Amino acid sequence: MMLFAPEIPMDQEEFRLLRDLVYQHCGLHFTEDSKYLLEKRLGKRVRHHRLKNFKEYYYLLRYNQDKDQEFTEVINVLTTNETYFFREDFQLKTFTDEILPEIRRRKETLGEKRLRIWSAGCSTGEEPYTIAMLLLDDPSFHDWQIEIVGTDISQRVLQLARKGEYGDSSFRSTEPSYKRRFFTEVNGKFQIADRVKNLVSISHLNLFYSSRVALLGTMDVVFCRNVIIYFDLAAKRRVVEGFHNRLRPEGFLLLGHSESLMNISNAFVLRHYTHDMVYQRPGLGQTAGGRA
Ligand SMILES: C[S@@+](CC[C@H](N)C(=O)[O-])C[C@H]1O[C@@H](n2cnc3c(N)ncnc32)[C@H](O)[C@@H]1O
Repeated sequence: MMLFAPEIPMDQEEFRLLRDLVYQHCGLHFTEDSKYLLEKRLGKRVRHHRLKNFKEYYYLLRYNQDKDQEFTEVINVLTTNETYFFREDFQLKTFTDEILPEIRRRKETLGEKRLRIWSAGCSTGEEPYTIAMLLLDDPSFHDWQIEIVGTDISQRVLQLARKGEYGDSSFRSTEPSYKRRFFTEVNGKFQIADRVKNLVSISHLNLFYSSRVALLGTMDVVFCRNVIIYFDLAAKRRVVEGFHNRLRPEGFLLLGHSESLMNISNAFVLRHYTHDMVYQRPGLGQTAGGRA
């Protein structure tokens, strides 16, 4: 008796067709070395539809009337959604101790008390909720209007982000006091408090849909950590240009610790803080190299 459906092999032509289609849709880039990943993960979808091979699946994705819905499934199986609360704490320390006071001083001289932060590629929500907890802990922002926008391309992770219920692995680098103050235990899971949730809105967004990205409005800080590593150079450039356009002059771009803008963009200044280095959009009348 056969317990598992046999793996369906993906030939070179099918690999190229599917790889290019995925790339055009969302910028995720699969090299020849990662063919097995496409084969394994998309194989599940081929079997789900009871198709004979990947060529048939390619036609389904291109021409079927339900192709948009199927693309949602493709994204769900192909994206890497690993995340946890308080990830890269040295960078968060720079954010709370140096970046936020700088923004506050600048805005207070303008008489403005509004802060907008975008967590691009927020996965299951730990990143935008971490930012919200940090801001709730900073009394100098208590009378500010704060908006944190978390976006992701995967509908599956967004559902979890909206639910706001987390297991132990999300807390691997969380100080116990945060868990105590901002979560309630429900059936072995931890539900995030409404006052944290209320600062965060969660939306679906493909970073490659520039017209949709433009609708987000202007941001003071963009967190896009551990997302662009999965893109090739052309895709990285396109997405980073989108961040530049969304940031207000002197706004900040925070990437993951293994990511940089080297060869990607000259439009930002690299700021050296005590715990970390971060990118900043130059002020009005300035260029990344100095004054215009
Ligand atoms: C590894 S997670 C990073 C989560 C969080 N930023 C962190 O650092 O912990 C990468 C996320 O980027 C999302 N992503 C990948 N391609 C995307 C695209 N084209 N548009 C929007 N989100 C994308 C994935 O769905 C995934 O949830």
